[in-house]
Amino acid sequence: MITSKLIRNYIPEIKRIFFGGKIPSNVSVNLTDKCNQSCVYCEIGKNCLSQNSDLLTKDDLFWIITQMAEFRIKKLSMCGGEPFLFSGIIDVVEFAWKNNVFCNITSNGMTIHKLNDNEFHTLKKCKTIVNISVDSFNEEIQIQTRGNDSALKNALKSIQKLQENNIPVIILSVISKYNYHDLYKSLIHAHSLKITNVLYQPVIKYSNFPNISVIKNKQELNVSTDQFDILFRELQKIYLFERKHKINTNIYRLLPWIESYINIIPDKKNTFFFHKVLPKFYCREIFTVIEINYYGGIQPCGLIQAEKSIKDNKSIDLLTQWENATEKLKADLKSFNYPIYCNGCCHKFSRNMIASAFQYPFANRKILITIFISIFNRLLSIILKKLYIKEYESRSHYRC
Ligand SMILES: C[S@@+](CC[C@H](N)C(=O)[O-])C[C@H]1O[C@@H](n2cnc3c(N)ncnc32)[C@H](O)[C@@H]1O
Ligand code: SF4
Ligand code: SF4
Repeated sequence: MITSKLIRNYIPEIKRIFFGGKIPSNVSVNLTDKCNQSCVYCEIGKNCLSQNSDLLTKDDLFWIITQMAEFRIKKLSMCGGEPFLFSGIIDVVEFAWKNNVFCNITSNGMTIHKLNDNEFHTLKKCKTIVNISVDSFNEEIQIQTRGNDSALKNALKSIQKLQENNIPVIILSVISKYNYHDLYKSLIHAHSLKITNVLYQPVIKYSNFPNISVIKNKQELNVSTDQFDILFRELQKIYLFERKHKINTNIYRLLPWIESYINIIPDKKNTFFFHKVLPKFYCREIFTVIEINYYGGIQPCGLIQAEKSIKDNKSIDLLTQWENATEKLKADLKSFNYPIYCNGCCHKFSRNMIASAFQYPFANRKILITIFISIFNRLLSIILKKLYIKEYESRSHYRC
């Protein structure tokens, strides 16, 4: 997992920072708008979709991958809707692999356990990483947030099958008013299942799919101010737990900004949550990821609507189409003219925070120091974990 993380994430990032590469490192595609869950915080789950039949096809995906190969973009993230409802997803993974592109699939785990042995073999052979979305290992909470009675049962079956096939699994959890008090208990459960990576994010406040209207009062799904104490206690417990156990989370990266993110009133003009943390903000996402929606539209970024589709423009290469789609947003951000959507964009904020600190080290010196300290602590804890993990694991008594 560490080696593939290096190849897919860090090497392209380092190349971009030090050698000024203009090629993004990742293409992120929403394969479909179909889904088999009804999550409280997701526009697809809440049926906000208008009908549009011209969805991406397997041939469109093959075109995207061929273009990625041409520009040596090595990472394809597949999302949705539910990507395993896209017919031919395994063929796409295999085609990508043959073109030296690695896939990362984010799924709710409803149907993965039904794949056959050959399909699991292909996922494994092609070094696929699978993210499974589990907000809680408490069945009641998971049903509440994911809107499906068998959400946890299926996710557990899928996790087990993936593990049996040695396919790396990462758990994604949305922190909301439904599960904030259960995060630590769920992490311990994840650890007991031998899961080694759990990534958290609060609720994105704007529409996840900018072509559809946002869920009403979405901000209220986040933890409220009077629940913060409990949330922070949970995060602290997780932080301490992972220092001594074979499980990693992104809590150390969330802690500097999560409170200001949750507190901000999203539509207040020229007030941005990141200014509490970063005097000067830089969005690395718009330079590193090509975002393609399920109609083939190239989005300026994950939260902004696409204007043109790759489906109508295959005579123009992917990179040119992406440069055209992102040109205005890049110019706006260069003059610190941020779209209001940045206030709802927690998805990759931790990475943006680190990139901002390096891009504007003087203006952001306070957070730069915090980042250095937390990276140092992190490295130290990884080394200590490696040295003492067996001893810790055998002596630990989990207190929930
Ligand atoms: C949109 S889903 C698509 C993939 C798949 N259907 C799934 O749920 O894993 C991708 C990820 O976004 C998360 N997500 C959905 N809506 C969100 C929101 N409003 N805020 C934060 N995360 C959200 C989901 O829990 C999931 O981990
Ligand atoms: S978050 Fe994923 S599983 Fe839930 S409704 Fe949205 S697309 Fe479906
Ligand atoms: S919403 Fe803002 S912070 Fe988020 S990706 Fe777009 S430009 Fe970047």
